[in-house]
Amino acid sequence: MIDPKRLAAEIEDLSYSYPAVTEERKPLSQRYLMRERSFYIGDVFIKNPLIAAPLAGISDNTFRIFSCYFGSALNYSEMISSNGIKFKDKKSLYLAKVTGFERPCSIQIFGNDPDVMATAAKIIEEMADIIDINMGCPVHKILKSKSGGFLLKDTENAKRIMEAVIGAVSKPVTVKTRLGWDDDNNVSKIARAAQDLGISALCIHGRKVKQGYKGFADNGLSEEIAGSLKIPVIFSGDIDDPLKADRLLDSSDCKGIMIGRAIRARHHLLKDIYLNLNSKKMTIGQKDPGIRWVKTYLDLYLRSIISFKGEYRGIREFRKHFSWSLKGRKGAAAMRKKIFELEDISQALRLIYSIK
Ligand SMILES: Cc1cc2nc3c(=O)[nH]c(=O)nc-3n(C[C@H](O)[C@H](O)[C@H](O)COP(=O)(O)O)c2cc1C
Repeated sequence: MIDPKRLAAEIEDLSYSYPAVTEERKPLSQRYLMRERSFYIGDVFIKNPLIAAPLAGISDNTFRIFSCYFGSALNYSEMISSNGIKFKDKKSLYLAKVTGFERPCSIQIFGNDPDVMATAAKIIEEMADIIDINMGCPVHKILKSKSGGFLLKDTENAKRIMEAVIGAVSKPVTVKTRLGWDDDNNVSKIARAAQDLGISALCIHGRKVKQGYKGFADNGLSEEIAGSLKIPVIFSGDIDDPLKADRLLDSSDCKGIMIGRAIRARHHLLKDIYLNLNSKKMTIGQKDPGIRWVKTYLDLYLRSIISFKGEYRGIREFRKHFSWSLKGRKGAAAMRKKIFELEDISQALRLIYSIK
């Protein structure tokens, strides 16, 4: 187990050493600077608009600590079953563990029973800075249990759940949802109800539940909602480059932008976006930070995962991060075969340092 303080310091050094490519641009208005872009979710200060998304199987302690040191101002746990928490399932409780190096952190729960959701929220309240309700997950198993995205069809139950969770805890409660179920755009209804009930922020992924991850995220409706609500609205979906992030923040009333798939094994994108928003230089997005830097990133990521999860589980989870980091590199296919056979830390380190 690496001392978490030392680990955090190493990640911070790595972030400082990231060789982002920038160029001078015309002086910007103050509006561009991060300090002008901070906001509150309830009483929790969010120091800039960059938010690392909840990603099941990915947004664990390691992912969140890296996100923090590369610029994200708010992190999320993956969605956790409210039943699992209520019945003290070990895995569910483990997912809700948050260290001091990844705060503020929102813990996200899902379920369909208002009482169970309230009980789960109470149990995790002490560990969370914010409690988030999942109202967008499109996975079949979740929809079958009338949770996640199903709540966009069952708006009455969605309201009962929001009311019950808000009534059970004193931490801010937020909702992450989508545009609607299928043809309808009933997020507008949920958005207004959420604000009236006391929800502290709303995150909208610009796709409908039935779309899954197909097509492109559409922020048109989210922009309307952001302009009409008093609570902060966060945009999610397909944000994968600094200029896109810039445009969204500048042309709408959204308070935050959430980044998910684009930072899997590529936390440096957060830094690109951060630098672009916070300086008089424009980040022109160095997508490849150089192989030496990537090796250090992978080495540290591996040691961090293992320090949280042990070698057996850590190596198995690290395989996918290693594989994502090779996207677009020569020889990636042959390397991936070896990655998925990795069994221990010394094999993994040898393979990392053999990347050409
Ligand atoms: C593998 C994977 C796991 C996800 N897990 C969650 C989750 O646990 N909770 C949630 O609210 N959204 C989850 N999402 C949705 C993301 O948070 C995000 O809204 C979506 O991927 C769109 O943003 P992106 O294009 O930046 O990835 C997940 C998405 C993916 C691809």
